[in-house]
Amino acid sequence: DSASKEGFETFTLKEIYEQPKVCMDTLNSKLENGDIVYEDFPFTKEELSKINKIYTIGCGTAFYAGINFSYLAKKMLGIESFEILSSEFRYDLPNLDENSLIVAVSQSGETADTLAALKEARKMGAKIVAITNVLASAITRLSDYSIYTLAGPEIGVCSTKAYTSQLMAIYEFILYLAKATGKIDESKFKEYIEELKSIPEKQKKILDDVGIYEEIANVIKEKSSAFYIGRLIDYKTAMEGALKLKEISYIHTEAFPAGELKHGSIALIEEKTPVIAVLTQEEVFEKTLSNLEEVKARGAVTIGIYSEIFRGKDKTDFSIFVPETYKVFYPILTAISVQLIAYNTAKALNRDVDKPRNLAKSVTVE
Ligand code: G6P
Repeated sequence: DSASKEGFETFTLKEIYEQPKVCMDTLNSKLENGDIVYEDFPFTKEELSKINKIYTIGCGTAFYAGINFSYLAKKMLGIESFEILSSEFRYDLPNLDENSLIVAVSQSGETADTLAALKEARKMGAKIVAITNVLASAITRLSDYSIYTLAGPEIGVCSTKAYTSQLMAIYEFILYLAKATGKIDESKFKEYIEELKSIPEKQKKILDDVGIYEEIANVIKEKSSAFYIGRLIDYKTAMEGALKLKEISYIHTEAFPAGELKHGSIALIEEKTPVIAVLTQEEVFEKTLSNLEEVKARGAVTIGIYSEIFRGKDKTDFSIFVPETYKVFYPILTAISVQLIAYNTAKALNRDVDKPRNLAKSVTVE
């Protein structure tokens, strides 16, 4: 048991530290001479160009990775894209046909609701691509194509390295689609790939500087509820951050788009309520900062996860900085900070981090 933890106190911590490697492995597994190659990919460029709707489905953390895909598909492919939880999708099917692309994200490849949703989508003739961590899993058998993440076995129930390797696979797939459909030119494509190659080093930097997380955890652990806020792509990370924190620390945590706080949730802020904001996007930076000031004025303890580009402009009680990257790639960095906040809080509360109560690693019942 302790041997396979390789000196780390828990599997979860070991897996958090494996992220630079598994993200690099996932990226490299599809790179050939600077290009992205999916062996035996079943769809032609012409078929891909006809795709007019994209639905990303999944459950739990896999869903929170998937919502990055639909966001990027809108931004970078200009295709109408939606994210729907598998457990909803299966009972509330959209109109699907051969020009619809379903992207199913699942670490295990066995989640019952995602399987059931795919069965329905298949009947309607939609194209299905799975992003999964397990070769020849049930979900891969229902898909036209599977992109494997190279996260390796994930033992900790709360997903960490599977999530960031899903993000890496998503970034690569978006770039592949953008190039295949002429939405991005060769030189831009190359720049994006170069940036992706630099991601593991940037993740290492975050993992090399973990001093502040214990201090933050000691503040969060005192309260029974906490909030995450963010806008745009940072809101996606906020949702994953809230899930991580609640599942391993048992502190009730909710995520809000920062602009929505004042429409109800701000009523819950009291003395020392932790409010954690993710701030990496220039065009909404000032807005989120002012939301933080609003909650601070009502007694909140504020914690910011900032892009390095905002160093010196931070106004939170605790400030964490992640290295600069392309706007769309921040979640693969900020993910590590939200994991470290959750991890340190759970440890400070003596929780069983690897096996949180009531949770299963894979949910194969409906
Ligand atoms: C369970 C796990 C989560 C996971 C979710 C989806 O709830 O505890 O960590 O995100 O299932 O699992 P999947 O295998 O489909 O990614």
